[in-house]
Amino acid sequence: MIDHVGARIVMVDSEPGSPFPSVERIAAAVTDRTRAVITVDLAGIPFDSRPLTGLLAGRGRIDTGLGAALERPVIISDSAHSLGASLQGRPAGSLADLTAFSFHAVKNLTTAEGGALTWRADLPTDREELARWVRTYSLHGQTKDALAKSRGASWEYDVIAPAYKCNLPDTLAALGLSQLNRYEQNLDRRRELLAHYAQGLADTGVKLLEHDADGVASSGHLAIATLPVPGVAERNRVIQELYAAGVSANVHYKPLPLLTAYRDLGFDIADFPNAYAFYARELTLPLHLALSDADVGRVCTALAASLQRSPRDAARSTASAA
Ligand SMILES: Cc1ncc(COP(=O)(O)O)c(C=O)c1O
Repeated sequence: MIDHVGARIVMVDSEPGSPFPSVERIAAAVTDRTRAVITVDLAGIPFDSRPLTGLLAGRGRIDTGLGAALERPVIISDSAHSLGASLQGRPAGSLADLTAFSFHAVKNLTTAEGGALTWRADLPTDREELARWVRTYSLHGQTKDALAKSRGASWEYDVIAPAYKCNLPDTLAALGLSQLNRYEQNLDRRRELLAHYAQGLADTGVKLLEHDADGVASSGHLAIATLPVPGVAERNRVIQELYAAGVSANVHYKPLPLLTAYRDLGFDIADFPNAYAFYARELTLPLHLALSDADVGRVCTALAASLQRSPRDAARSTASAA
């Protein structure tokens, strides 16, 4: 998306042992050419971008648009995972300036494809105009949708730019609305499943990404685990063994510099050692509403059995021997 608008992508590494960067690390990457900063609510855990407002004040390229009104680069949250999450009572969607949610097929709430863009209620801009702009640019630059054109003699419209078509169709929106009614219960169940995983894996050396730190109410989107194994080959072997035991595990995510498109843009994984180290031992456990408590127990047993057969991570073996 950054590349599509002709901007230059800058990535920052995460902190050691974490998939998240610190706000200080993000602020250190900001230059006088930075227009926006994008953070990610990985696994449904809201990233606390609020300290960035102070750290970025007066910095960046803020000659026009929202950046000029904010007097700092725009803070955008990739909240694809975190619909319904909150931080100290403030819901995802109200923390950053702009927030993007995904309703893709694998998300907590799905419209098969599509999503939503929200903005802070106190954003210093004409919010009606912003909504109009978003609608126009998500409907290939057309100033009216089909319904608006059918009202009286209002057939005429303009196309103000050769934009993309990325609107959420009404039929798919209806799918999403029907899920909203039970979404709170769904979130509770996801949090319950995460607690079962924490219990079931307590003595295995597996470290689960924390979803309930102080003030955090995660949306419980992904059960991200760090395995006590040396690296990628052993992690992949565990995934294969789990599959043979009837458990489908995944990896979130392969760091972008390892993907061809980003390597071709000049990114080098050597510049992101913490993200690589986190990825190398990461495994995502099944987390969905068709899981029973007993299923979680079976996943934990299968994972523990596979780890028993794995060479242990050197640091951990030394610690347990001591
Ligand atoms: C962290 C994250 N960001 C962005 C996206 C993109 O969302 P969408 O597929 O709705 O464009 C996804 C998933 O698809 C995601 O997991």
